[in-house]
Amino acid sequence: MRVLSGIQPTGRPHWGNYFGAIRQYIDLQTDNQGYYFVANLHALTTVRNREQLSRLTLDAAIDLLALGLDPQKATLFVQSDVPEVSELCWLLMTGAPMGLLERCHAYKDKKEKGLAADAGLFTYPVLMAADILAYDAEIVPVGVDQVQHIEVCRDLAGSFNHEFGEVFVLPKARVLDSSAKVPGTDGEKMSKSYNNTVQIFEDPAVMRKQVMRITTDSRPMEQPKDPDSDHLYQLFSLFSAEAPRQEMAALYRRGGFGYGQIKKALADAAEAYFAAARERRAYLVSHPQEVVEILADGARRARQKAQEVLRRAQKACGLAVR
Ligand code: ADP
Ligand code: TRP
Repeated sequence: MRVLSGIQPTGRPHWGNYFGAIRQYIDLQTDNQGYYFVANLHALTTVRNREQLSRLTLDAAIDLLALGLDPQKATLFVQSDVPEVSELCWLLMTGAPMGLLERCHAYKDKKEKGLAADAGLFTYPVLMAADILAYDAEIVPVGVDQVQHIEVCRDLAGSFNHEFGEVFVLPKARVLDSSAKVPGTDGEKMSKSYNNTVQIFEDPAVMRKQVMRITTDSRPMEQPKDPDSDHLYQLFSLFSAEAPRQEMAALYRRGGFGYGQIKKALADAAEAYFAAARERRAYLVSHPQEVVEILADGARRARQKAQEVLRRAQKACGLAVR
């Protein structure tokens, strides 16, 4: 299957991003033809600082590579390195009903809050449709919040095909497993908007301090507790193998432990879990040329495919007169 997803470079990735999304993208690179890109054109709707956007874009690519994205298996590139996508976006824009875009939540939410929206935000789903259609993607793994945009993509592709013939492959959303809803340091869903995140590549000493600050209830130490309803245990489970997880669950059911002990075990497990990725990241940061080459090669491969699809679309609607 041809799998595609875009990752917005809007901040440093945290544990929630990893277990909720990144790990699942990386798993899909095996047995599929994967296209993964850093969505810097989309990020431009919110990040309006040159240094910040270019740094975040490169950082996002480095993070994905460090966490296991293999450029031999999947194509990794930066969205703006494939200008064909922006051309395709225009073709789709001409057939995109205003009403459909007015209903899309990125724009609608902002408007309802009384905030000024620009045309980039309004047409955000059309660019996203072009991203997907340019590579004949069949499967698009996304979080639930993006499912509406995949529906828009299918609508736009369907009506283009209806008018001009079978040009586009209709993609399907693959909703990421949200059972991996990772709790933050306050027990609520981990999110950068709630200020309760632990970043994957945080300095280990800082990470330890953040883990030590995770909120807990004031249960007396000797009282047994159901592990499954405890966010500290949920976090520990993400990082540990079956045997230590069982042991930890037994400790909860028996009681007589202190949260400090669990937090230390969690910090140790998280540090060990990301140790190899941290090393790979340090290597890539000190060899930026290698990253640049991977992205150049990815862009070359991505453009090849996007040119083929754009040409197909141009011919179908009468833009190609030569
Ligand atoms: P944030 O909420 O920190 O702004 P994003 O909205 O940028 O995170 O999320 C990027 C991806 O990571 C999405 O696919 C989302 O589903 C996933 N994700 C973010 N936070 C969590 C979490 N706490 N648990 C599971 N998945 C998450
Ligand atoms: N809008 C997506 C997000 O915010 C990122 C994205 C851009 C994307 N283009 C895409 C995701 C194409 C999947 C397919 O998460």
